[in-house]
Amino acid sequence: MTERVNESTIGAHGRIITVEIMGRPYSVPEGLTMLRAMWYTGHEVVRGAGCLGGFCGACAVTYRTRDDVRLRNGLACQTVVVDGMSFFLNFSYYPNRKALYDLDQLSDPKQDLFKIYPEATLCRNCNACTEACPQGIDVRDGVWKSVFGDFEKVSEMFMDCVMCGQCIPVCIADIAPNHVALYASRVQGARLTLPPENLSKRVGEIQSGKYDREWKRILSMSEEDLKVASQPSK
Ligand code: SF4
Ligand code: SF4
Ligand code: FES
Repeated sequence: MTERVNESTIGAHGRIITVEIMGRPYSVPEGLTMLRAMWYTGHEVVRGAGCLGGFCGACAVTYRTRDDVRLRNGLACQTVVVDGMSFFLNFSYYPNRKALYDLDQLSDPKQDLFKIYPEATLCRNCNACTEACPQGIDVRDGVWKSVFGDFEKVSEMFMDCVMCGQCIPVCIADIAPNHVALYASRVQGARLTLPPENLSKRVGEIQSGKYDREWKRILSMSEEDLKVASQPSK
């Protein structure tokens, strides 16, 4: 396996290694992430670079390490280059059907999955989506859990999904597993999870105007008064 980024190790070794970027060899300092290696070697990366923190999913990358026959997917801002690695950024956008739905209008959200994403039931268990996922999510299992209505588990499993789309082109059943999981997670959050009791109470109080006078007072305060008021009382 390759190393995930640790900013403190970047450039720390001082060794120059050779990597192959889109089929051409380059010399780069050891410890760079793939994205930094691309910048270091003069590649202009506009589409493909976003948050640089492993959250936005813009920098999906496909790579192979020396002597490993297997192609792997990763996030270029999070994967550190190693000597002999070959990689390319997946600039491609995979056309996929993002169903439109109104969460408030669903009459039976678990059953409605079969109208919104009917192809979800056609999963053939090939596991290619799980193999493709750079976030280590058991995507295949998530599709099945969605089909069987375990939306709560799906929402937990896909917490780290960055919507990079790598699970889409590999699916032999034309499922977009990330969108199926997103539907299940949204339904879980909006329709199936009971709101915390105290939060609902407080929202009700705010809506009824209980704090309006206090808000007006705070909004009329000077910056100095606000500083004093925000000091913890002794
Ligand atoms: S589930 Fe799909 S979209 Fe989400 S991180 Fe994994 S490969 Fe990317
Ligand atoms: S790639 Fe498609 S068919 Fe294969 S396990 Fe994943 S969802 Fe099922
Ligand atoms: S740039 Fe956002 S995940 Fe890599």
